[in-house]
Formats: sequence, C-alpha cells, structure tokens
Amino acid sequence: MSPSTSEIESIQPVSRLPLDGKTVVLGVTGSIAAYKAADLASKLVQAGASVDVIMTTAATEFVGVSTFEALTHRPVTTGLWQAHTELSIDHVALALRADCVLIAPATANTVAKLALGIADDPLTATVLATGAPVIVAPAMDADMFASAATQRNIEVLTGDGVLVAGPVSGRLASGLIGKGRLVDNEVLVGLVRQAVGRHGDYEGRRVIVSAGGTRQPIDPIRFISNRSTGKMGYAIAEAARDRGADVLLVTAAGLSDPAGIEVVKASTVDEMRDAIVPSSSDADLLVMAAAISDFTPARVSDQKIKKQDSKKMSLELTRVEDFMPLAHGRRLVKVAFAAETSNVEANARAKVAPKGAAFVVANDVSEPGSGFGTDTNRVTFVDADGGAEVLPLMGKLDVGHAILDRALPLLAER
Ligand SMILES: Cc1cc2nc3c(=O)[nH]c(=O)nc-3n(C[C@H](O)[C@H](O)[C@H](O)COP(=O)(O)O)c2cc1C
Repeated sequence: MSPSTSEIESIQPVSRLPLDGKTVVLGVTGSIAAYKAADLASKLVQAGASVDVIMTTAATEFVGVSTFEALTHRPVTTGLWQAHTELSIDHVALALRADCVLIAPATANTVAKLALGIADDPLTATVLATGAPVIVAPAMDADMFASAATQRNIEVLTGDGVLVAGPVSGRLASGLIGKGRLVDNEVLVGLVRQAVGRHGDYEGRRVIVSAGGTRQPIDPIRFISNRSTGKMGYAIAEAARDRGADVLLVTAAGLSDPAGIEVVKASTVDEMRDAIVPSSSDADLLVMAAAISDFTPARVSDQKIKKQDSKKMSLELTRVEDFMPLAHGRRLVKVAFAAETSNVEANARAKVAPKGAAFVVANDVSEPGSGFGTDTNRVTFVDADGGAEVLPLMGKLDVGHAILDRALPLLAER
C-alpha cells in the first residue's frame, strides 16, 4: 500500500550531504559585501562542511565575529597574535586541515597581497601554506576591479592555479551598475563542492545529463509540454560534478545554472537531440533524465492561432522519434529514465533494449514524494536481463549518486 502524503512528509530520507566530512576555510575581507559571507557560511554548514572562518581586521568593521561563530559553531580567527587560538600556537594549522580555502568577498587589497605572496595576516598566511584548492571571489567597485593593478593581480593568481570566481555585473553598493558584484553564494558553494571532489571516482570522465521537460511549439505563443521541473537531472549533474566528472547538462528547465557545469539550453526535442547526439561520441556516460515529448504538433503555425467560432478545436499530434538509440560512442554507457503511472517495472523493462540502455531508472510519478517537482524520489533500477533493484525514498541528490554508483563499474577502463 502506498503511504499517505502526511506519512511521506514525516519520512526523512537519509541524505548524503555534499560537503560531509570536509573542512572549508572561509576567508572574509573588508568589502561591503562581507555581510553576504554570513549566508555563505550558513550554506556551507548546511551542505555538511566544517567551516573555519578567518576575518581580516577590515572585515570585522562590517560584520561581527559572533555572527560567524554562531553560524559555524567554530571559533573565528582575526589575527595572527590573537590569544588562545589554534593559529597563535600553530600558524599553519588551518592551511593543513583545509580541503578548500574560499575567500569571499575578496578585496582588491587582499587580491594584491595574495598575488605578491604577502603573509602578514592569518588569511594570507593560510593561503600561502595550503595545498588545498583556493577559490577567490572578488567584490569591489567596478573601477577598482578594472584597474590595471587589480587585473594584473588577478592574472597572477589565475596563473598560480587559484580559481577566481567573478565578480559579476550588476548593481554595486555605490549605486552604480558595473562589474564588481560578488558571485552568488549558490555558485560559490557549487565551486567548493567541485573543488573538494575533483579527484573523485569520476575524475577524467565525461558525463552528459539531460534535464527538464521539452516544449513542442503549437504557435509562437503556445506549446505542449509536461510536468518535469528538471530537478532530478540537475541533481545527477551536480552529483557527477562533485565526484570529479566533466559534466555537460543539456536542459529544457528554467532552473539556475549549476556552478562548474557546462550548460546547454535546449527547449525542443530537436534542440536536445542536436546537443546530445554529437557530444555522445566522446562521452563516458549519458543519463537521459529529461522528459522528452513523445508527441509533437503535426503543424506549427507561424502566427498565433485565433479563437474560432466553433467551441471545439483539435490539435493533430505526431509521434516523435526517440533519439536515444542514435547516441553512441566507443565508451558510452547509457542510462534511461521511465516515468510511469502504472506497471512501472514492466514498462521500464520494455525500454531498456530499444534505447540501448545499460539500465533504466523507473519511477512511479503518481506516488507521493516521487517524481515531478519534489525534492525526493523513489526509483527502481531495471536491467535488460530482468533484474530490478527497488530503492527507498531518497533525496534526489542521493538518487543521482546511486545512479552514478551503479554506472561506475560499467564504464570502460581508462
Ligand atoms: C564602506 C567601505 C566599503 C568598502 N568596500 C570595499 C569593497 O567592496 N571591495 C574592496 O576591495 N575594498 C573595499 N573597501 C576598502 C577596503 O576595506 C580596504 O582596502 C581594506 O584595507 C581592505 O583590507 P583587507 O583586504 O585586509 O580586508 C571598502 C572600504 C569602506 C570604508
């Protein structure tokens, strides 16, 4: 018997947090954007990281130490000579413990110090001593950013292997519009996830994921589509990125672009086919999580179809050719999705061979907590040979990892 909606809400799926067991050193410097670092610290903690904040003296003019201590449940370092802190005893302790050092926001001053290798505060000293990946997210007035000195310093940092994220264009604290805004915190968390997972078990693998529901035009105003939101596909793409894969996400969904992933927008089945089929030849894994239209209007009007006098209007639809069998490559392993409302396993099994899939991820979208728009999914892996593995209700990121776990042994030796 299927559980009721209220039962589903009370089930807490076991979730693997993306930064579980990882230490992130978050450097906060004296930019007006320092207030955004409080939310960033919180997001990193919610992603499972242990977050050690180092603030420059100027940063403490903008945000209080207590804010970060309360959010991270960890002491905050503000000076090399600060009494009774780990760094006052061992000034490279955080550098050694860090899985990633993220400086957000990074002032022009700190960027300049990093480019020169100056180490006169705990943050710059930590960057010099760490072997962990370093991400610097500058935030400053547009003219400060455009200045020859800052541009030169950023070039030096990039050459030294530092990932410089942003800044982006938008409204600045001065009221002017320009390039100097701190990149969004969601993007920074994504970049940290990618950095800490860069040597994961998908390192060196090319993974293509499709997501969202395709929209088949009826006229310039209208289309037919389906309820897919793209959340499942995005979760798979992010899981693959977090394990070191080089990911191409081909999406019909309107979700914001995940960091560290190549995103190609494809609204119709044709656009999706054109983005996926040629790219498949050098990919290791293709996961078709997109809900591709099975039918499309037989004719697309180039003018808006007007209301008729008649109360009825009919739309002729034709079958869309499934392009998944056309995607092939020497190393390519394919995983299909089957969203069903009845006979889930049997319907999914019938899809394995025609699509050339290694297995099909089947889900009953009529079940509560499963399918479109939810953050959870209950799926069954169905093989061509009749095998079926029923997974419990899980977060979509966990489902993504489960798909990658199952596909990994099928990938060719490299
Ligand atoms: C109100 C105010 C806002 C500032 N905002 C920025 C900023 O967004 N980016 C920046 O590079 N510097 C900014 N500065 C200048 C820095 O605070 C200053 O260069 C300081 O020395 C930076 O020190 P730090 O790099 O050790 O944090 C601002 C200064 C003030 C007074």
